[in-house]
Amino acid sequence: MTRIILIACFMVSTLACMQEKAWEANYDESKVPQYVLPELLVSADGSVMETADDWESIRRTEILALFEQYVYGRVPYGSCTQSNEVLKHEQHALDGLADRREIKISVDRNDREIQFNLLVYLPAGTDAPVPVFMGYNFDGNHTIHPDTGILLTDSWVKNKDEWSVTNNQANEESRGMKARRWPVNMILERGYGLATIYYGDIDPDYHDDFQNGVHPLFYGPGQKMPEKDEWGSIAAWAWGLSRAMDYLETWEAVDPSRVIVIGHSRLGKTSLWAGASDQRFSMVVSNNSGCGGAALSRREFGETVERINTSFPHWFCRNFHDYNRRVDELPVDQHMLIALMAPRPVYIASAAEDLWADPKGEYLSGIHAAPVYNLYHPTVLDTVPPEINVPLKKSLIGYHIRSGGHDITRYDWEQFLDFADLHLNK
Ligand code: GCU
Repeated sequence: MTRIILIACFMVSTLACMQEKAWEANYDESKVPQYVLPELLVSADGSVMETADDWESIRRTEILALFEQYVYGRVPYGSCTQSNEVLKHEQHALDGLADRREIKISVDRNDREIQFNLLVYLPAGTDAPVPVFMGYNFDGNHTIHPDTGILLTDSWVKNKDEWSVTNNQANEESRGMKARRWPVNMILERGYGLATIYYGDIDPDYHDDFQNGVHPLFYGPGQKMPEKDEWGSIAAWAWGLSRAMDYLETWEAVDPSRVIVIGHSRLGKTSLWAGASDQRFSMVVSNNSGCGGAALSRREFGETVERINTSFPHWFCRNFHDYNRRVDELPVDQHMLIALMAPRPVYIASAAEDLWADPKGEYLSGIHAAPVYNLYHPTVLDTVPPEINVPLKKSLIGYHIRSGGHDITRYDWEQFLDFADLHLNK
């Protein structure tokens, strides 16, 4: 009997394994399914949105609620106590180019607390409040620049042999290792500040049924994990950006009406959701955000909803998993996420070799979001994507497709800075 059960188990797991292996990403345009996108400008009761006011008072609210319920998950109700402490302040950092601060932000609720460190560089010696780019980093604040003044994170970090990180604790060897992705000096020289947080401070990026990070602060009595429509990790990271924004709003050196939220890859999905759910961000940048970010889900080109929910079960709310195999029934698609930024400038960046993120699907989201922007200002995007390395910056939906692969480079930042110069009245 035991033998039969064992053989049956073996067969089931072999089959599952074969099914797993059988999945291959589609990279063939001719195999993209026919799809119909959900209506952007028709409300649930069938009325057509004709003005910006209609959009803001009716359809925008509906769409935001749909994304909360079916994709990212809503932040549970209830307030927290937040306190901010400047841990370090150096007025002449980076050879006098920058004023650097690190602020510990603590959030308390239900006798639990999380803390995260906001690292901020502002151009030194400026009197007027400055615009700031704010976004998460993947490996700890200390990795974004060789600056020895940056504190090492105490939080859990991914192990990396090449940096000799083997016990999930940050070390000196990793200092500055991601500097290539963060052209801090250029950002400062162009008159912008940079604020960044290690995303693992808010919620470590591995699936533990939401026992660590911010989620447990919001559990009701006896609750062990978020409800099906409550937040996954992306919504938690977006929430963290809003808490950092709460702090920036209190700081007179920063212009709170010009805070740009930026992110690469999973953190680009996060910057989009942060920009959608918190309209205090005055510009939004998505870099190679792909599935669950700027790319249209219904195209199923490269990474799919089923794939992302299988590989990263903690990123989205559990309701999203119900659509793994019926993406065409999702009440939203990602062009609606881009539309939620309107009329604020939004920039979508793709990379030519990053097919997993579906560059064309990222561009199409911009095109299909344009009708909402048009309620405010004429916003026209060509139906075909631009050539590689020919950025579109004039309209409020900016876009480029860079040569090369999945990454955020100096070239990308140059375009984001130009776009901010153009649209944030700098
Ligand atoms: C994986 C994942 C993507 C994500 C990327 C990243 O490739 O499938 O959805 O954008 O990781 O964050 O680096």
